[in-house]
Amino acid sequence: MSMKFAERVKDIEISGIRRLFEAAGPNSVNLGLGQPDFDTPQHIKDAAIKAIQEGKTGYTGNNGIPELRNAISAKFKTENQLSYTPDQIIVTAGASEALHIVMQAMVGDGDRVLCPDPGFVSYASLAILAGANPISVPLTNDLHIDVERAKELMDGAKLFVLNSPANPTGAVESKESIKAIVEYADDAGVTVVSDEVYEHFIYGKKHWSAGQFGENVITINATSKTYAMTGWRLGYLAASPDIIGQCIKVHQYCQACATSISQYAAVAAYEGDQHPVMVMRDEYRARRDLFCKGLSALGLNFPLPEGAFYAFVPMKPALTRKIIDAGVVIVPGSAFGVNAPDYARMSYATSRENLGRALDRIQKVICD
Ligand SMILES: Cc1ncc(COP(=O)(O)O)c(C=O)c1O
Repeated sequence: MSMKFAERVKDIEISGIRRLFEAAGPNSVNLGLGQPDFDTPQHIKDAAIKAIQEGKTGYTGNNGIPELRNAISAKFKTENQLSYTPDQIIVTAGASEALHIVMQAMVGDGDRVLCPDPGFVSYASLAILAGANPISVPLTNDLHIDVERAKELMDGAKLFVLNSPANPTGAVESKESIKAIVEYADDAGVTVVSDEVYEHFIYGKKHWSAGQFGENVITINATSKTYAMTGWRLGYLAASPDIIGQCIKVHQYCQACATSISQYAAVAAYEGDQHPVMVMRDEYRARRDLFCKGLSALGLNFPLPEGAFYAFVPMKPALTRKIIDAGVVIVPGSAFGVNAPDYARMSYATSRENLGRALDRIQKVICD
């Protein structure tokens, strides 16, 4: 039977990262994953169990339970100096759904969506799924957004996707860069979509929320990375009431609501003890130092990642292939856009022991 599929879906590729996981052998060391290897903190699990036992298992309001939107609103105030009211927040199935509904609500037919390149795999594909035209924003040699180039590209664009700390580079943008981008975008009538899912994993620098510098900003975040909750599928977006009014329609029809149980767990995450986040951050930092020192000793030179849990290392695709064949799953730069074919992303969200094993295998490949 011959089937006809939508062109906009046929035009996008299945994520290169997924394909690598599927191809990885059982003894591989997996540095391909973008997910914390920590378990969700116990008090968060307990809140979910309590919600189940209390029968809080039905649909919730489309935009999320009031307790959670109140908790997120308070979090925005204290952690991000942002004043979003609970009504300006939609709780979603992960940051992924938040990004999806923003694209669906804000762009269509050939609209220009500026995406960092290299950047998180979903941005360009979600823009294409919305019928829009993703435009690559190049990075500087030290892997930060090229602000001057970004400004030039803003003419006639609709959205600018900002991601700090960034996947796949680990770069953390300065206050000056974020402010300059937001202010310029405001003047140019471009809405900034600020994906801040790695905000708590920064090793020395400070996180600046784009929403501090202008009104025309949509802030996206999730419990996924901060609280090691990737499988709970709990994220959110916050924006002005007019943007929320459009986004909620997409959310209503594609998702109805985020999982009720995860929403109750997320209340515990935001209102409970934040110490586990600090423990994870300190461990990521120790792993970053260990791993990057090991890579440098092998002659691989690259800017020290400032945040998230990735090293983005210059290397030719042939070397990337050899490392994968030697049993270390890493992701070729080509998975993250068109601008970084000669790089590979290595995630250090895995044990120190695994990082040591990976370094041994990479050393064998390089020294052979
Ligand atoms: C930058 C960035 N944004 C969003 C996401 C998706 O997050 P979630 O699991 O909450 O959908 C990821 C996941 O890797 C990411 O790296």
